Amino acid sequence: MSETRKKVHLVVGARPNFMKISPLYREFRKFPEKFRIKLIHTGQHYDSRMSNFFFHDLRLPQPDEYLEVGSGTHGEQTARIMERYERVLQEDRPDLVIVAGDVNSTVACALDAVKMHIQVAHLEAGLRSFDRSMPEEINRILTDAVSDYLLTPSPDADQNLIREGISPEKIHFVGNIMIDALIEHKVKATQSEILSTYGLQQKKYALITLHRPANVDIETSLSKILNAFRAISRKIKLVFPIHPRTRKQLSLFHLDHAAAEIPDLLLLEPVGYFDFIKLQMEAKFILTDSGGIQEESTWFGIPCLTLRPNTERPITISEGTNQLIRLDTDAIIEAVETILQGNVKKGTIPRFWDGNTAARVVKIFR
Ligand code: UD1
Ligand code: UDP
Repeated sequence: MSETRKKVHLVVGARPNFMKISPLYREFRKFPEKFRIKLIHTGQHYDSRMSNFFFHDLRLPQPDEYLEVGSGTHGEQTARIMERYERVLQEDRPDLVIVAGDVNSTVACALDAVKMHIQVAHLEAGLRSFDRSMPEEINRILTDAVSDYLLTPSPDADQNLIREGISPEKIHFVGNIMIDALIEHKVKATQSEILSTYGLQQKKYALITLHRPANVDIETSLSKILNAFRAISRKIKLVFPIHPRTRKQLSLFHLDHAAAEIPDLLLLEPVGYFDFIKLQMEAKFILTDSGGIQEESTWFGIPCLTLRPNTERPITISEGTNQLIRLDTDAIIEAVETILQGNVKKGTIPRFWDGNTAARVVKIFR
């Protein structure tokens, strides 16, 4: 194999990175004469249910480098990633580093690469919540500022970047890479047996995920949410695969028993990708604070209540099925009742959320 191949690092670290990088990994591998691909896993997420499960479901190979950074404060985690990834970069000297999304691994690896004069591409660039109290917003702004290629999922992202003074030739509207993964694995997900495992019936339950610090790291916030669940669960079964941060906070606030005692609230460990997609497809509605789930639910046309004051993904509201709700027990109950009465938001699928984003990305580098 010729040494003229472009050396590319694809970086993953946390759960939402795996489904963004896997379609790209496969697309790059179609051109072995042009690219030598390495998969780098920082280890920001490390529980098998937050990491290994996705390598299995998404058919990703073992990472070429596993940095084992684990959890910590923002400073500790970011620093640890930077130290360890810099050593990998010194050894390997890739031509291009591709980072995805807005987690600490994204910004840490982008900073390492740009300081070594290695080109950086940011997948899912340009999204803005305009809320700097969210760590992800800081990660987005910084990553975009140092990236050479800004690969955007929607036109609002292009506009945000232009407004920040980023030169238009760096910006490429490629579409939503998460939807590539969804389309690729939809059939497999349909075959998941998670509904029968837990005795669930189509459209007879709501799916919940929560992990934002503003919702789960503050005791009064988490209590308000649980009070809403207690009321809603009298009307519809709730299925809640719990993120490890949320599990930890429930126990810290001694709210775990209160949660376990809510009838018809099914608390699960985080589930694998196929099972989660199946749970989304068949849900009556979704209640979440996740970034990616706002997009997936829009693609499926399932009503989504997002428990946040803002979103960096406004297209899921203007075109999709998403709707923001305030962190208030009555507001949550009211929004759910509206859906249960049949008043659901209909949406359309945004442009370039079509399963061909990875191909558009790789074409840029070919
Ligand atoms: C991270 C991202 C967030 C993303 C989310 C996706 C940042 C700043 N945050 O949040 O943007 O939406 O991932 O899920 O990058 N833990 C485990 N096992 C694990 C991973 C985490 O037990 O495999 C626990 C640890 O107690 C840890 C806590 O969860 O301290 C939080 O993990 P961390 O990676 O810091 O942030 P997330 O809340 O997962
Ligand atoms: N997901 C999953 N299992 C779960 C919860 C989520 O497979 O138990 C998937 C979901 O389908 C989506 C991604 O994880 O593809 C979203 O990740 P997360 O909500 O952790 O992060 P965010 O998008 O908020 O950054």
